[in-house]
Amino acid sequence: MKGVILAGGLGTRLFPLTKITNKHLLPVYDRPMIYYPIEAMVKAGITDIMIVTGGRKSGDFLSLLGNGKDFGLKHLNYTYQEGEGGIAEALGLAEHWAAGSPVCVILGDNIIEKNIAKAAADFRKQGKGAKILLKEVPDPERFGVATVQNGKVSRIVEKPKNPQSNLAVIGIYMYDGRVWDIIKTLKPSDRGELEITDVNNWYIQDGSMTFEVLDGWWTDAGTFQSLHSAASLVAAGGANKG
Ligand code: G1P
Repeated sequence: MKGVILAGGLGTRLFPLTKITNKHLLPVYDRPMIYYPIEAMVKAGITDIMIVTGGRKSGDFLSLLGNGKDFGLKHLNYTYQEGEGGIAEALGLAEHWAAGSPVCVILGDNIIEKNIAKAAADFRKQGKGAKILLKEVPDPERFGVATVQNGKVSRIVEKPKNPQSNLAVIGIYMYDGRVWDIIKTLKPSDRGELEITDVNNWYIQDGSMTFEVLDGWWTDAGTFQSLHSAASLVAAGGANKG
């Protein structure tokens, strides 16, 4: 399984911190935000990684990460997203590189306490379809929200006004090689983006979506509040443990 880390966008929710740089280069406690998803991938045994960057100072990723030596890697791949076309559009940019292979996708501003080694191993065994990770949160309206019925995810609604559960879909996804064709069928949402939630709902309809509830804390770091709490959580005990 290959890995794609999405680190594009303009990070407007963090202005003026992101006025002159990319959100994923900002510090979260003692290292740049992008370090956390790379480490999460490597700990799950995923070492063939592409970083989709974009926006401001995208060249700084190369100066910072190089070939990934800090993570024990020999090589890192990079591509560039123009504008803000959404998570699914950004993922689509990795198609030619992934060449039909399954992928694990991590949003560059998602940080976890433990690791996804078991989920990745389970998905390798599953072989077909997709897997998402869910986490109970106090503010589900900020996220994609999953409804679980009879042990299966029956629906995901993106940022619902009246969430049907407190289970947020976290920004770590695993897809089989069909994902590349699914992305091509998507239409922009009301916010003008190709939504990863539409990809996930395709797999739910197909009956091939599985899920796990994440063990340990999870946070994004794309707002002032979550950036601050991410730093506090990391400072208190570290991330990507185990
Ligand atoms: C995105 C996804 C959402 C998911 C969240 C996790 O939201 O669209 O479904 O729950 O990431 O961080 P965004 O950060 O684009 O608002």
